[in-house]
Amino acid sequence: MTINFHQIKQYIKHYFAAKRNGHGVHSPFAYELCEQVFYNHSHFYDFDELKKIRSTLLANETEISIEDFGAGSKTFSSNNRKISELTKKGTSTSKQSETLYKLINFLNCKTSIELGTSIGLNTLYMAKANKNGQVITIEGSKHLFEFATELAAKNKVTNIKFIHSKFDEALPQVLQNINSLDLFYVDGNHTYEATLNYFKLALSKKNNTSVFIFDDIYWSKGMTSAWEEIKKHPSVTLSIDAFYFGLVFFREEVKEKVDLKFYI
Ligand SMILES: C[S@@+](CC[C@H](N)C(=O)[O-])C[C@H]1O[C@@H](n2cnc3c(N)ncnc32)[C@H](O)[C@@H]1O
Repeated sequence: MTINFHQIKQYIKHYFAAKRNGHGVHSPFAYELCEQVFYNHSHFYDFDELKKIRSTLLANETEISIEDFGAGSKTFSSNNRKISELTKKGTSTSKQSETLYKLINFLNCKTSIELGTSIGLNTLYMAKANKNGQVITIEGSKHLFEFATELAAKNKVTNIKFIHSKFDEALPQVLQNINSLDLFYVDGNHTYEATLNYFKLALSKKNNTSVFIFDDIYWSKGMTSAWEEIKKHPSVTLSIDAFYFGLVFFREEVKEKVDLKFYI
């Protein structure tokens, strides 16, 4: 991702304002998240295998053609991209994927939706985090959808449902088909309007313990405004800004709205 002025400014602000551990966090649930997720350095065996898969992808020079969607990409100009480049620049880092893994594992998320599969590496982390759960992932680019589907099959990960579609077209139907949504991860079409639209649509299936995650909240001013609006929504009781992504929770036991920033 090419870094812009808005991101640099926001990163500096975040660097000085964010907490680096759970000290002084009054909300018991947010404190637990610090201990069990953000600053939990225990070793998860799945990470060894996932790291091996990442290394193989980083060495994969195969080119695939991709259609550009939504807000597009600030990094690539051509439509042909190497798997190695997509792994390096268009995929969550190990740290981000591992945080997501720990979150799903800790919250025992049964039904998760990911908007933006890309090569499907992050999807594998999500699926492995709860082998009894299911991840539904949507990708508009046909060759990425095919690559990710094959990657999961090759690695014998079966609890993922891959959908090839534009988000706007598939999401309403996907939501209609599930009883409840435990985790919603938005990582594509980073515009103000689209982000708020996905948030509002997904609210219909949230439960008391759901978490919604928005990637790249400082990607642009529009994304930051969308994040500010999401935090203000009356149903949100706890919001956590981890710079690379923002998380919101809807727990009724959190009586007063809590807004936290963590450096992870
Ligand atoms: C940043 S990548 C996803 C990365 C992945 N979630 C991860 O963490 O590694 C975003 C993906 O969303 C897809 N995408 C963007 N806008 C879309 C839209 N409106 N409909 C369907 N797919 C879209 C792109 O093709 C791209 O592969």
